[in-house]
Parts: sequence; structure tokens; C-alpha cells
Amino acid sequence: MDRGKFITLEGIDGAGKSTHLAWLRSFLVERGKDVIVTREPGGTPLGEKLRALLLSEAMQPATEVLLMFAARAEHLQTVIEPALAHGTWVVSDRFTDASYAYQAGGRGVPDDKLRTLEHWLQGDLQPDLTLLFDVPVEISQRRLTENDAATDRFEQEKADFFARVRSTYLSRAAASAGRIKVVDSTQAITDIQNLLEEIVIDCCFK
Ligand code: TYD
Repeated sequence: MDRGKFITLEGIDGAGKSTHLAWLRSFLVERGKDVIVTREPGGTPLGEKLRALLLSEAMQPATEVLLMFAARAEHLQTVIEPALAHGTWVVSDRFTDASYAYQAGGRGVPDDKLRTLEHWLQGDLQPDLTLLFDVPVEISQRRLTENDAATDRFEQEKADFFARVRSTYLSRAAASAGRIKVVDSTQAITDIQNLLEEIVIDCCFK
């Protein structure tokens, strides 16, 4: 049996990635794929408990990194790896690129600490495709303020934090252009979906 494909969605808070997640799932299901949609931090019972802590409790940057990767260890070993091995496609709302963007870029944790954890937990496993939804920080901030939902610990960060997160995402995309595709998220939703369709077919159906 063919291994499933692993697709991740990334972007600063308010970049609009959630809008495209449901669309991507139906797009893959319509093409006959067995798909699970999951998220980080979270995706397992323990991971969801860690998520609740991560999004609400003040903590040191090192603690934040270790809890993100603790949740990821559970997620990888009990959900992602078994699904891919069974030929199921996995679509994850965020993965390790978010740790580089938020904890290294945003909080200033040295990259090499993250690389050590990444290598330990993932070995050679990387997403087959990462969709990076990109918008200028002013737009994402406006979207977050317009949204009535209560904001979590990350969403309460200031514009300069998100500017660092965004620029880390964009440099990672430049360094891994084959895997990470930048999607200009200021475009109309239908234009974005047309572009996503092309990217996904090109990556994963040829
Ligand atoms: P998010 O997908 O934005 O959740 P929601 O759309 O429900 O608000 O993810 C939650 C937050 O977790 C987001 O602000 C980014 C942060 N995060 C990190 O800081 N590092 C990580 O490694 C991951 C996976 C997420």
C-alpha cells in the first residue's frame, strides 16, 4: 500500500488558514483519499490537554518549546505515523514550522534547540507539502480584532511579535521552496482555492 501524504497548514494568527482546511479535506476526499484532519498543539487526548495549558498559562519560552514538542511526540507516534503508514492522508493545522516561527522567531529560542528536538522526534519525516497562508500583520491584526471569539495567549501578542513570526515563516519558505508554498491570503477565497488546487495536484497527485 502507498504511504499517505502529509500536508500542513501554517501562517500567523488571523491569516485565514482555518477557512481553507475544510475545503482541502473535501477536495482530497472527492479524489478518493482517506483523510484525517488534525491540529497542533493537540490532535491526541494528552495533546489537547497540553494545548489548553499552552494557550492559557504564562510560561517560560523553554517550557513552551518543550510542551509543544511533547504534544507533537504523542501526535506523531500515535496518530500521524500510523495513519501515513496505512495509506491515510494527514492534514495538520500547524506542525513544526510553527515552532520555528513562534518559539524561535517570536520568542527568541535558539534554532539549534528546536533542531535537536525535531531530529529526535521526526528523524527524516517532513511534510510532503506545507501551505503557508501569508498576510501582512496589519491585516491579520484587524481580522483578529473583528472576530468576537476570546483571544488566546498567542493571539494577545503585539504586532512586532507577529512581524517576527511572519518573517521567520517567509525565510523558511525561501529556504525550502520545494516543500513550503506561500499563498497570498489577501486574495479572494475562490482565487486562493484555485491556487491551492494547482499546488496540491502538483505536489501530491502526479
Ligand atoms: P491555531 O491554529 O492558531 O489555533 P486557533 O486557530 O484555534 O486559534 O494555533 C494555536 C496557537 O499555537 C497559535 O497561536 C500558534 C501556536 N503554536 C506555537 O506557538 N508553536 C507551535 O509549534 C504550534 C504548533 C502552535
